[in-house]
Amino acid sequence: MAFRTIIEPFRIKSVEALRFTDEPTRRRALAEAGGNVFLLRGDDVLIDLLTDSGTGAMSATQWGALMQGDESYAGSRSFYRFQAVVQDLTGFRHVIPTHQGRAAERILFESVLTAGDVVPNNNHFDTTRANVEVEGAEARDLVIAEGRVPSLVHPFKGNIDLDALERTLMADGDRVPLVMATVTNNSGGGQPVSLENLRGVRALCDRFDKPLFLDACRFAENAWFIKQREAGQADQTPKAIAQAMFALADGCTMSAKKDGLANIGGFLALNDDAWADKARTLLILTEGFPTYGGLAGYDLEAIARGLEEVVEEPYLRYRIRSAEYLADKLVEAGVPILRPAGGHAIYIDARALLPHIPPLEYPGIALVNALYITGGVRAVEIGTVMFGRGSDGAESPAAMDLVRLALPRRVYTQSHIDYVAEVVIEVASQREALRGYRIVSAPTALRHFTAKFEQLT
Ligand code: F0G
Repeated sequence: MAFRTIIEPFRIKSVEALRFTDEPTRRRALAEAGGNVFLLRGDDVLIDLLTDSGTGAMSATQWGALMQGDESYAGSRSFYRFQAVVQDLTGFRHVIPTHQGRAAERILFESVLTAGDVVPNNNHFDTTRANVEVEGAEARDLVIAEGRVPSLVHPFKGNIDLDALERTLMADGDRVPLVMATVTNNSGGGQPVSLENLRGVRALCDRFDKPLFLDACRFAENAWFIKQREAGQADQTPKAIAQAMFALADGCTMSAKKDGLANIGGFLALNDDAWADKARTLLILTEGFPTYGGLAGYDLEAIARGLEEVVEEPYLRYRIRSAEYLADKLVEAGVPILRPAGGHAIYIDARALLPHIPPLEYPGIALVNALYITGGVRAVEIGTVMFGRGSDGAESPAAMDLVRLALPRRVYTQSHIDYVAEVVIEVASQREALRGYRIVSAPTALRHFTAKFEQLT
């Protein structure tokens, strides 16, 4: 007998109380935070959908594994266990632990980029872009055209435009040290890349003799989408699909805070001996010795176990279904969202929801702040504040103004999601009352984290 309800594939043995606040308290807290939810205290947030990064719940097995951590400075047993799991999954020769994903990016790009280089990707995540640009190189986004239309339903909106990649490699090939593909494509809505597309990218990389690196933060969610949507893949295990994805690449950067099911950690894994040597030298400078790379032995244990749990089918089925469940409710209520649902998040199209707020008055911030004030839900703007300022300092509208509701892994239950849907729908019903914002102060790089805003009247 097959029942329709997809349940959380775990029971809960340790709980953390939520703190309820009233609307006046939230208004005050947001004012003190300069209108930027990044500057709120976590205790003032009821349901925190700011990010799915490092916010997941570890399993009892992972907590048990922490006690197995070997804290030897060099040659830790935990490193060898971590290395074995990463190699089994990815097949890459060198496994270099880092404290999180952006450290892997920084070390890779500092090792291989020089000023004037170009790095193609479907869409660079913000830290990835920043780590490319800090080397004086260009982060070039080449996602397929369908990936830029929020309402358009397509099974693999994270795919790379192969014609555009070919053009880049023909015109600027001598300046391209590596090609990247982000799985799933976070900045493009948590959308997957198909195996077929990765094969196409691989073929171009072979033709132009370029290495291919995956930004593999959400590799397991990408593998599940392939299993569901790509012809001929339904009978493969998620792990086998993930292995097939990695087999098409020469290396990867990874944030274990996502599909590593850990609260901290990451790694760089690659085949090239010379690049690995350079990366390890940089690693020692700022992260630590190559067998711990800025992590405790117990972190390496938690990640090793997390990488095994994340490819289990009941987990992935529930994981992807929870995002779809929220998406279904919002679509039914007429809230414009990026479709189909992403793996780790739902993205509301703030520009479509709030057409009376022009992009340079930040409709995403208006929506994020209203969600917080109305229901204590914290989301994040992925739009003109995050991406709207060029390296010359000039401001222009980002391609999209999205608001992301990211789902921490194994943390919230279906009733939490029901509540979130109710809050979003309530805010959407009062959309005309929402006002835009202006920036009062902002740093020069990654301004979304610390900018201060003032609401326009
Ligand atoms: N690449 C992608 C696609 C990411 O989503 C992130 C982080 C990183 C790299 C960097 O990893 O945080 O461990 O240094 N994304 C988080 C988010 C922060 O909220 O989407 P990190």
